[in-house]
Amino acid sequence: MQKEQIVTLIEQAKAAREFSYSPYSGYMVGAALLTAEGEIYTGCNIENAAYGPSNCAERTAIFKAVSEGKKEFSAIAIVGGKKGSAGDYAAPCGVCRQVMMEFCDPEKMQIIVAKSAEEYKHFTLAQLMPEGFGAANLE
Ligand code: THU
Repeated sequence: MQKEQIVTLIEQAKAAREFSYSPYSGYMVGAALLTAEGEIYTGCNIENAAYGPSNCAERTAIFKAVSEGKKEFSAIAIVGGKKGSAGDYAAPCGVCRQVMMEFCDPEKMQIIVAKSAEEYKHFTLAQLMPEGFGAANLE
């Protein structure tokens, strides 16, 4: 991936983080998802007083995209951190990794876990989800 594209995704994730609805944890997360066609869908975490219905930023972005007919993704950038912090490393939770398995090629999907446009870590989904279970197992 080109550095310029990575920086754009991180900046969009950071902007989406501002919309985080996280009154219970105080942990704000933003994500920016790149589709195979080159469009970007953003998302934030959305919490709930009953806790269970809370949704992570990554799944918000993925579900927004899928609900608009997009089902192939090439990268996602994530910026998280406690309210008041500029951004910290927030690797996707297990549920989000499994949702990514549904729509992404694990060897190709790029996961950028960022503190800022200058400080980020770069993984493939296969690295974060070794031996992952997916649709191919049911064929
Ligand atoms: N969260 C995300 O949105 N993405 C992650 O990668 C990790 C955790 C959210 C869920 C919850 O609203 C808050 O962060 C604290 O767990």
